[in-house]
Amino acid sequence: MQDFIITGGNRLSGEITLQGSKNSTLPIMAGAFLVNGKCTLLNCPKLTDVYSASRILNCLGSICRLKNNCAEIDSTAVSDSVIPENLMREMRSSIMFMGAILGRMGECTVSIPGGCELGPRPIDMHLTALSKMGAEITDRHGKIFCKIPDGRARGARISLSFPSVGATENIILCAVLADGETVINNAAREPEICDLCGFLRSCGAKIKGDGESRIIIEGVRELHSCEYTVMPDRIAGATYLSMTAATGGEIILKNACIAETEPFISVLEQTGCRIYSADNRIYIRRIGRLKSVKDRIRTMPHPGFPTDAQAVLMAALVTADGTSVFEENIFDCRYRHTDALIKMGADIQVMGKAAVIRGVPRLHGAEIEATDLRGGAAMAVAALAAEGITKLSCISHIDRGYENFEKIISAVGGKIRRE
Ligand code: EPZ
Repeated sequence: MQDFIITGGNRLSGEITLQGSKNSTLPIMAGAFLVNGKCTLLNCPKLTDVYSASRILNCLGSICRLKNNCAEIDSTAVSDSVIPENLMREMRSSIMFMGAILGRMGECTVSIPGGCELGPRPIDMHLTALSKMGAEITDRHGKIFCKIPDGRARGARISLSFPSVGATENIILCAVLADGETVINNAAREPEICDLCGFLRSCGAKIKGDGESRIIIEGVRELHSCEYTVMPDRIAGATYLSMTAATGGEIILKNACIAETEPFISVLEQTGCRIYSADNRIYIRRIGRLKSVKDRIRTMPHPGFPTDAQAVLMAALVTADGTSVFEENIFDCRYRHTDALIKMGADIQVMGKAAVIRGVPRLHGAEIEATDLRGGAAMAVAALAAEGITKLSCISHIDRGYENFEKIISAVGGKIRRE
């Protein structure tokens, strides 16, 4: 078990080149399982979740090689349709392979996935949709057996009760090789869905409407090899912007996706930070003390404020002048970072979906534990702004989503080391 030792109080200044998006890379790696050939993915982040996805692919008979920020995946000779339980437990996105395996093999065996503890994370929408596409699904003691009797999924009209990112991705992955047309109503509109569809289209898939609430997929017989560059990670971007807002200083984010980060930036601007963006770069400078955000910050499906950026922004707002209020609408249990922030001197009151943040002049270092990926990143944001030394443990959560976290922060003047 490793820790981060963080000495707070240093302003950040310099340039950060953003990593590729974790939440795009994982479904795209599942998508590569559908391809009768070799895919080369560029701008892949080096993360433990990506290594887990690679292990899943290798176990299914694909050959996945990761080198620097490139993944080469050859799924010409796939052989297996079972993901062992230990691999399923490593991350939530393992469930994304279900649609891909079913689409390619006509059957699959998976189990309930692991991942961040953000409250109950059922997969009912995934299962209902896949059964509409012809899968017969049985759940025996947590093991899920899926089989399409005639071996090929069929197109279907599916209306999601909530625009679930994972369910939308799983349906798309199953539909690209299905017989006929699939229509997804109330589909998730997250940029990572568009990135998955962009990749699949590069392999010959026929998909329209991604980025909107209705996605139409016309099944094809086979997908072919391609080279594809994964989009930048907008949540890692939001994290480094929050860090600069919390600690002061000025940063240029390079390789950023500006339009996709806009729902976050438009809220962060209300704190008084100067933010400019052009040519895939976002510049931020904090002017004076941060101001609180007057309007309630409601997490919503894209293009609303992203739930994945709630914790990191909160960590900046705990020292803002005035009161800010968050409303978490996506996950039931996404305020687990607040205890650590309170231990560091923050004034936070959680009442159901709402969290009321009364800004305090400063935080102090403490011994704290990362509770989940973004919660852990939020604690690092707070620790970099606090007075004194923080020992942040359970940092394997942070390694799931941030490439070279401490190196990037050290390079722009933050004092952080891994022990
Ligand atoms: C994706 O998770 C992301 N993960 C999450 O990022 C992100 O927070 C989330 O989308 C929302 O944007 C990846 O892309 C790998 P959902 P996912 O299905 O697909 C409920 C991070 O920090 N639901 O849109 O699991 C569910 O319980 C991670 O990088 C059902 O009820 O999210 C939740 O309340 C964490 N039944 C809501 O929908 C279902 O069958 C949204 O979940 C599916 C979901």
